Amino acid sequence: IHNVIFQDSKEGSKIVAEEIAHLIKEKQNKRQSCVLGLATGSSPIKVYEELVRMHREEGLSFGNVVTFNLDEYYPMERNNVQSYHYFMHQHLFDHIDIAPENINIPDGTVPREELQEYCKRYEQAIQDAGGLDFQLLGIGRSGHIGFNEPGSHFNSVTRDITLDHITRVDAAPAFKGLENVPRKAVTMGIGTISKAKRIVLLAWGQNKSEIVRDTIEGEISAHVPATYLQEHANTTFVLDKEAASHLT
Ligand code: F6R
Repeated sequence: IHNVIFQDSKEGSKIVAEEIAHLIKEKQNKRQSCVLGLATGSSPIKVYEELVRMHREEGLSFGNVVTFNLDEYYPMERNNVQSYHYFMHQHLFDHIDIAPENINIPDGTVPREELQEYCKRYEQAIQDAGGLDFQLLGIGRSGHIGFNEPGSHFNSVTRDITLDHITRVDAAPAFKGLENVPRKAVTMGIGTISKAKRIVLLAWGQNKSEIVRDTIEGEISAHVPATYLQEHANTTFVLDKEAASHLT
């Protein structure tokens, strides 16, 4: 894992958006599609803002872009304001020229008995698209990436998972109370994420400083699933000063 430390999240986000834009254009020149793995939550918001700005002001086109989101709560309706489906449209997809059929977000409405089959198809769709060229990640205080909570296997694939208590506590304000936070989610696996050719993880603020340290400096272990990234050859952690403050 490389890490780069910025003065603030705005600076860091700009660099990441530029890397993504560069990759999209490089693929455009080769007449290839660009497959992006995307995250939700507070961490990537400024990256999406910057990509939207580049689309509006600099003509950056997403015509060749295919996206796969990491996760979605389960069960969850698409039009619920707390859904990751809603989040992605609000922060990115409604403001760019991506083809709707190129957007993939795990579906929180799949009936329970079809879920396993659905997850298998999601995993397969990523491979059929040619695999993830770039995966954007945040990190949860439980050490999750996507919703791969402690205990997740390094070979895990897209599946349903039970959310960790700390993850639900952190989501409680958005849901106006812990009791309203879903107990489950659908998430890409560690194995799915690890196959990405390039991974960038964003972490901002003091709140993330301890888990960032444990992830970068700790032993690789299922207790902190993000430590599996230590084995990935092309991963960068983009941090602000606060998130980096516990690194030795
Ligand atoms: C979201 C996701 C999660 C978040 C993580 C951090 O799609 O996969 O792993 O990245 O929970 O969330 P924020 O950015 O809100 O601190």
